[in-house]
Amino acid sequence: MSNHLSGSEIRQRFLDFFAARNHKILPSASLVPEDPTVLLTIAGMLPFKPIFLGQKTPEFPRATTSQKCIRTNDIENVGRTARHHTFFEMLGNFSFGDYFKEQAIAWAWELSTEVFNLPPERLVVSVFKEDEEAFAIWRDKIGIPAHRIQKMGEADNFWVSGPTGPCGPCSEIYYDFHPELGDKTIDLEDDSRFIEFYNLVFMQYNRDADGNLTPLANKNIDTGMGLERMAQILQKVANNYETDLIFPIVAEAARLAAIDYQKADEKTKVSLKVIGDHVRSVVHMIADGISASNTDRGYVLRRLIRRVVRHGRLIGIEGQFITKVAEIAIALSESVYGNVRERETVIKAELEREEARFLETLERGEKLLESILEKEKSQISGVDAFTLYDTYGFPLELTQEIAEEQGLSVDTAGFEQEMKKQQQRSKAAHETIDLTVQGSLDKLAEHIHPTEFLGYTDLQATATVTAVLVAGKTVESAAAGTEVQVVLDKTPFYAESGGQIGDKGYLTGDNLLIRVEDVQKESGIFIHFGRIERGIVTTGDTINAQIDRSCRRRAQANHTATHLLQSALKKLVDGGISQAGSLVSFERLRFDFNCPRSLTSSELQQVEEQINNWIAEAHE
Ligand code: SER
Repeated sequence: MSNHLSGSEIRQRFLDFFAARNHKILPSASLVPEDPTVLLTIAGMLPFKPIFLGQKTPEFPRATTSQKCIRTNDIENVGRTARHHTFFEMLGNFSFGDYFKEQAIAWAWELSTEVFNLPPERLVVSVFKEDEEAFAIWRDKIGIPAHRIQKMGEADNFWVSGPTGPCGPCSEIYYDFHPELGDKTIDLEDDSRFIEFYNLVFMQYNRDADGNLTPLANKNIDTGMGLERMAQILQKVANNYETDLIFPIVAEAARLAAIDYQKADEKTKVSLKVIGDHVRSVVHMIADGISASNTDRGYVLRRLIRRVVRHGRLIGIEGQFITKVAEIAIALSESVYGNVRERETVIKAELEREEARFLETLERGEKLLESILEKEKSQISGVDAFTLYDTYGFPLELTQEIAEEQGLSVDTAGFEQEMKKQQQRSKAAHETIDLTVQGSLDKLAEHIHPTEFLGYTDLQATATVTAVLVAGKTVESAAAGTEVQVVLDKTPFYAESGGQIGDKGYLTGDNLLIRVEDVQKESGIFIHFGRIERGIVTTGDTINAQIDRSCRRRAQANHTATHLLQSALKKLVDGGISQAGSLVSFERLRFDFNCPRSLTSSELQQVEEQINNWIAEAHE
């Protein structure tokens, strides 16, 4: 019988095996955990944490799941080793105070050797060095030779769900890819020979913040089998990425880059695998309601998307591509995780938006980065890394990754120092500025010189950005798609006053385009209200401020026309007429005046003719 099983078959066989042993099959929980101590669901046990801790009564004494998980602690190994991932599926069987060590070990062995048909002579196990009981079960009940039961320390074989929480000694099952190397040299750390595919945790303690262990009310079982790892073993492929669970994504990325995966060099393969891995993560994260941001899990998402985009560029994919590979990831998992298809539109829109934004960032910073890499021999300075971060939007991790690829390091201490300096600067200048709070403009005025108005003579000027505000609050910089308020040291833009509306126009810079819709002034500071159409605007940037001439011209004409109208009314209707209000916009004017009676239509006609005559006379 062929041992080859698809990823779906492995998942199903695992769940069926435990369902036949009275385990309730439960659906995967969201990647967004209820547990506030972790950002993302990192293990199959996480949804059951309250049960293990005795805070919740289980509905069933036994459960089995295929849980989607994300871990980012090994992100730099993704694509480089055969088995590291950010996204993976963990198959688990759980006992809530029901069966314990002996039964868990017996079933794990039966499943591995009789359902997945792994030859016993290819399996090696590990136990926690103090867990004589587990050692004895493996040796005496299962019949594993003692030298194939490795005793391991706390770092490897004592599993904790986080800094605190339920924990216990564990026992792992490893598959041997090279049994021909013999039993004398068993080193489970040797990745090229062994892969750990099943971890059995004997969960019986709670660990507090000081590291103290308290026995739990119940002895529980928490196990985890890496679906992708089992697929690698059974599908006899070189790594998890070449299994049917991931390879179609890798292949699509290769197709888009016009690369033959099998013939690609190692570096290219790493990029393809990173894409294959991260795309699964981002699709499921967005499906579970996460959106990209600069904090917490939103930042994890943003970082993963950025890595996909960058690796796409590294292998020569031009333009936006992420939704194409995302489609393959959606198609691969929709039968098990239906929400990826239900949320397809949201997923693709979010990915596309983030990708576009990041491509801009990359394009802006790449030249600078190239010149830095050319001049540096061993290390990128903190100042350079900070400039890339602060001015060009390159996250530190990105600079580090790029540096590493070139055999350089980054002076992170220097970077942190620059960051501190920057924070102090912006604290002094901006922290308390919130335009939505009354009187705050005066505060802004304490830190910023009044704007020099050039608009009587100039229609365009080179200026420095002295403040950037989003939703009325000062920020260091803002990117495409944002409604911003920009303060400049000097400006040709006329600010709304005396009934004439502010100029419209553009602020442009290196790949920057802000469409200015309105300008207001207060305390001598001109605030340009607009929307960033392209690029990033950062405090300190030098930009070109250009008013829309035709708008200005029309506003001027309408402004002049109010004066002509007032004079004509005084001359032809009543010398006592006075202005009560007026509005001057680009399209029209309105003039309010006091007059005890209505105007006749012949008076209106005379007024009109008079004004047209004055205009025709073309006075200076
Ligand atoms: N919680 C354990 C792990 O994540 C077993 O599922 O490895």
